[in-house]
Amino acid sequence: MIILVTGGTGYIGSHTVVELIQAGHEVVIVDNLVNSKKSVLDKIKTITGIKPTFYEIDCTDKEALEPVFKAHPFDGVIHFAGLKAVGESVQKPLMYYHNNVLSTIYLSELAIKYKVDRFVFSSSATVYGDQEVPFVETMNLLPTTNPYGETKAMSERILKDAATVNQNFKVSLLRYFNPVGAHESGLIGESPNGIPNNLMPFVSKVAKGELEILSVFGNDYDTPDGTGVRDYIHVVDLAKGHVLAIEKLQDAIEIYNLGTGHGVSVLEIVSAFEKANAVKVPYKIVDRRPGDLPAYWADANKAYEKLGWKAKKTIFDMCKDSWHFEKNYKDE
Ligand code: NAD
Ligand code: UFG
Repeated sequence: MIILVTGGTGYIGSHTVVELIQAGHEVVIVDNLVNSKKSVLDKIKTITGIKPTFYEIDCTDKEALEPVFKAHPFDGVIHFAGLKAVGESVQKPLMYYHNNVLSTIYLSELAIKYKVDRFVFSSSATVYGDQEVPFVETMNLLPTTNPYGETKAMSERILKDAATVNQNFKVSLLRYFNPVGAHESGLIGESPNGIPNNLMPFVSKVAKGELEILSVFGNDYDTPDGTGVRDYIHVVDLAKGHVLAIEKLQDAIEIYNLGTGHGVSVLEIVSAFEKANAVKVPYKIVDRRPGDLPAYWADANKAYEKLGWKAKKTIFDMCKDSWHFEKNYKDE
């Protein structure tokens, strides 16, 4: 297939581009580089031998996007492009709604106009809100606690409505749990600018000595060790899930959780990281972070039954690969 990957130089996008190329697909990337670097294209070439076609375009610029659809006979779109910092979305809600929702509308309009049948969307476990765990795809969506989460829920609804009335426009909504880790080559991974918001990049930077100490946000939750529990998934497993989701897309609307099905606590991550990499990660317990849920993980059975997909990599792999990438990473 010829596949348009928006946000393809980003963290999850770049790993998915690698897996798509290795599965024999042709990839065209659109990214405005707001949170990634063009040098990722050379890293993709080093890993796969192929440098994908790249357009530096903002997905909220429909006029700039349309010629890309005219130039390439796409079979599918995988739409990763989006802003993802939860705290920033509270401070700048309109920027988040504009960027994340408008891009979804324009890309689906163009996909329908140019008869691109398959559309895979990056959603998030955050759309489940606060309800019983594990989260199952059949659950109703509950309001999330921030505009970022709302952009995901809105985009899901927009795509479902579009697929309901447009025959041949099929959508796959992939709800990611907590993606971590990096490609085993150490060439691509996640290194956020500034101080990371997410646990694994923070842990990596503490281990490297770039940050002094990890703040563990609360140890008084109703969890086995009192710290928050999440379903961490290796980004390469997640990327493989996208390849299967787009290859096997059949129904008008398909929804899959992409997680491991197991919850792991913050202190378990710290301890696994120290063991996997023979490093020290000093930490201190601080207050809970507002808006955090105590514990959630995926019911990951549907993706296995329908796509034959299962996360294979362990917490050990996630810690090892995160560290391998962080150690090698130079800000280019
Ligand atoms: P990322 O920031 O590394 O990648 C997103 C990419 O999209 C970046 O390269 C950025 O430059 C690009 N981009 C943003 N807005 C754009 C626009 N208007 N036009 C063109 N390009 C644009 O983030 P990621 O972790 O790879 O996330 C990819 C997708 O998965 C996002 O939609 C995110 O919301 C979603 N998601 C991520 C997580 C996570 O924890 N990483 C969890 C659930 C869902
Ligand atoms: N945590 C710490 N210290 C830190 C950072 C995080 O203790 O410095 C804890 C959090 O309290 C939480 C766990 O580590 O218990 C994971 O936190 P992250 O910030 O890494 O991830 P979240 O689960 O809060 O959210 C992530 C993405 C969201 C996405 C969600 C989907 O940031 O965009 O996963 O499950 F919606």
